[in-house]
Amino acid sequence: MTQVATPALSPNEAHEDAREQSLQIRLRAGHQVESEEDMTPRYREVLLQTMLIAADLELMTLPSYYGALCTAPSLDHKISVASSIQDEMGHAQVMYRMLEDFGLDAQELIHQRKPEEFKSFELIEQDVGDYVTCVVMMALGDRAGYTTTRDLEANCSFGPYARSLRKVNYEERFHVAHGERWVRHFWNLSPETRRRVQAAVDLLFPMSAAWFGTPDGMKKRTDQLLYRIRGLSNDELRQQWINEVVPFCESVGIRVPARFDTDQGRYVLTYQEPIAWDAERRQWDYDTPITWQQKFAHWKKGGPIKQPGLTRIQNESWGDELW
Ligand SMILES: [Fe+2]
Ligand SMILES: [Fe+2]
Repeated sequence: MTQVATPALSPNEAHEDAREQSLQIRLRAGHQVESEEDMTPRYREVLLQTMLIAADLELMTLPSYYGALCTAPSLDHKISVASSIQDEMGHAQVMYRMLEDFGLDAQELIHQRKPEEFKSFELIEQDVGDYVTCVVMMALGDRAGYTTTRDLEANCSFGPYARSLRKVNYEERFHVAHGERWVRHFWNLSPETRRRVQAAVDLLFPMSAAWFGTPDGMKKRTDQLLYRIRGLSNDELRQQWINEVVPFCESVGIRVPARFDTDQGRYVLTYQEPIAWDAERRQWDYDTPITWQQKFAHWKKGGPIKQPGLTRIQNESWGDELW
């Protein structure tokens, strides 16, 4: 039997290896990281990636909600969409600003990256277009975002980031509450607004459930959990969202592709990802099976507002139309 010798580490590599192990032990013991000097290169990379995705998601709210801002049915509604967008831009500002502490240039990140390089998700790449869809987005989508940012605030091992999310979460709670209040209102207002609420939920529910990413069983890299950048896995976060959003929808009377499973004692989705998007009919097709490769390709293409919305931000071509 031949023995394969492990190549000896150079003094430099050995030093890095020891730092890496000691960081992981400290994190497991519940220590917070407070500055860049305490990080290993791998930790830093995972943290920055997480913060950049979060920043990009906040920024995408502007083009996504823009249509609803323009077409809001009253000044009150317009002001509420405008203030939500302002909150989201404040969240983006907090996150891009924090990335600057690590030597990244926020102006460059926002204005000079190609739209396809932004790390947003399908849900927030939609043009919500009107106020009814906007409040459904807040009830389902902001709740998905809020589920993620609550986990980061409670569990993120990078102290400055966790603390910065306190204000973010405070405001997200308002977005969700605002969304739920007006979803209920429109559901009961008229058959037409009820139909529109249901149509928006049919569109956005699977996208919101997919916000949390692929099932845990498929995930190869779990560095975010190893480094306690996040506390909960994709499936745990998704379950938390389902636990909150499904009883709300049921209490209103909205139909959702989820139900309470008495055997498992929890709410479950009634479909299994990956599901197909029927671009022609603009609806989910639960009957045509697709592969994860096809799903990834669909996500990579980006939703309808990603390219035009980011181009608009980068050219600052909002002007008079904004109000
Ligand atoms: Fe936000
Ligand atoms: Fe929000």
